[in-house]
Amino acid sequence: MNGPLSFAFAILLTSDWFPNGLTTVDTGMTVTRAATCGICHAQQYEQWSVSRHALSWTNAIFQREYKDKPLDWCVHCHAPLPEQHQEIQAGGGTLANEGITCVTCHIRDGRMQSNAHAQTSPHDTVVDPSFGSPRFCGGCHQFNFPAPERIAGSNVVRRYTSEPMQDTQHQHATGPRTSQGCLSCHGGDLGHRFPGGHNAKFLSRALSVAACRDHGRLQIGLANVGAGHNVPTGDVHRHLVLRVWPVDAPEKLQEVIMGRRFAGDEVGAKHLLSDTSIPAGKTRIARFDWPQRASTSLRMELRLVYTIDEFPFRGRELAEPTSMLMAEDELSWSKLQDCKRARSQENK
Ligand code: HEC
Ligand code: HEC
Ligand code: HEC
Ligand code: HEC
Ligand code: HEC
Repeated sequence: MNGPLSFAFAILLTSDWFPNGLTTVDTGMTVTRAATCGICHAQQYEQWSVSRHALSWTNAIFQREYKDKPLDWCVHCHAPLPEQHQEIQAGGGTLANEGITCVTCHIRDGRMQSNAHAQTSPHDTVVDPSFGSPRFCGGCHQFNFPAPERIAGSNVVRRYTSEPMQDTQHQHATGPRTSQGCLSCHGGDLGHRFPGGHNAKFLSRALSVAACRDHGRLQIGLANVGAGHNVPTGDVHRHLVLRVWPVDAPEKLQEVIMGRRFAGDEVGAKHLLSDTSIPAGKTRIARFDWPQRASTSLRMELRLVYTIDEFPFRGRELAEPTSMLMAEDELSWSKLQDCKRARSQENK
């Protein structure tokens, strides 16, 4: 990073807990498997087991992309322990399959790390209030595009460009919901599941969808009412697809895509072309033509798409869903409010 501004960001965003993908995460002791921690922490273990953190190495969306670009750099975040890295170099194994496991977050210099210490705890715990803070999560959830170098015939990532690849912590830090930490939405009762875009119920909190009539056209507003950062956030391929089509003429489908678009298609420096993701507290509006016959109803569907191809073709199929339905409705012209009236009611 260059210049005083990006230097300031570098300080704000640097995590003491994780090396932001530039190397493996060393715990300073022999690895304890998640199932062993689970003997005494059954609840945390069960929640973690179904989390994307536990699936971060094995999930099909990741594995397909990793096979295309098998960089050590990916391993540094998706299966970050040095012991996992060794297994992966030898063809994989059951420790690598634990993805982001208990000790990856909880053990440093051979000691338990947490933000509290119970009297009944058998651990020699280091208590640090920043454990679980946005900066902690940002150790993996905030990073720029890699600038790979060719070393001994392979691509090695030792530094980053100045453009964010994942910007979640920064979006949160500069948005209106900073007073709520990541855990106030993703943790708490939800515990170690850390739900996000792969959880239908959690995802449905993110946006409120409102349709109205605007001079003969259909207007749909998507308001980010529930996320602490943009929607979508995270991975570069995430995007929203909003579709409408006449119930009796699906071939007249219209669609609007929201998300980030980049120039360049190789792993390496990319440049942001446009960003139509929806910042926390903001609304984006999409307008569609309403078909001639006002009696026709329109079907509306909003999806979060996880990966490049919502409809993978032969040889690229995935063993898990590539998108999640966020909202659907059937709209009829006569029942829609005029947008001006809808707005003035909102302001009351
Ligand atoms: C992505 C990082 C991460 C992983 C992986 C992780 N934890 Fe945690 N853990 C946390 C955070 C953050 C807290 C603090 C939660 C809070 O303050 O609400 C925590 C708290 C805890 C606590 C204290 C009680 C509680 O639930 O708040 C226990 C016990 C615990 N973790 C056990 C585990 C076990 C066992 C595993 C593996 C099965 C695990 N953790 C995996 C981040 C992680
Ligand atoms: C022999 C049982 C046992 C095992 C095994 C165990 N813990 Fe604990 N741990 C406890 C008890 C008891 C507490 C006190 C709080 C509670 O009851 O949840 C505790 C508390 C914690 C806390 C909260 C901090 C503290 O000191 O109060 C964390 C974090 C934690 N354990 C993580 C882990 C992780 C990660 C593993 C695996 C590497 C693990 N534990 C293995 C029994 C165990
Ligand atoms: C060691 C790196 C690492 C740390 C630390 C980490 N994460 Fe993650 N997180 C990941 C990776 C990698 C994924 C993507 C897993 C996948 O789907 O392949 C992920 C996925 C997620 C998701 C998406 C879940 C979904 O349903 O799509 C949420 C939410 C999340 N993390 C929240 C957090 C929070 C909150 C913290 C801090 C307490 C945290 N993470 C700490 C690496 C990390
Ligand atoms: C005010 C509540 C709130 C706060 C605070 C918050 N999030 Fe989220 N987060 C959400 C909601 C709702 C979603 C679902 C929308 C989505 O997936 O885009 C989400 C989704 C995510 C996802 C999944 C992205 C995807 O494309 O599927 C990640 C990763 C994530 N959050 C990480 C974080 C991290 C890291 C922090 C703290 C820096 C944080 N969140 C703070 C509410 C919150
Ligand atoms: C600095 C940490 C970091 C590095 C390095 C990294 N990732 Fe990730 N990756 C994440 C985080 C954090 C998420 C979760 C964001 C989200 O859910 O949108 C994620 C999500 C993903 C997803 C989406 C998974 C899903 O559940 O939909 C894919 C695919 C992915 N990464 C592939 C890769 C590949 C391939 C590489 C190497 C070329 C790589 N990642 C390198 C941190 C990293």
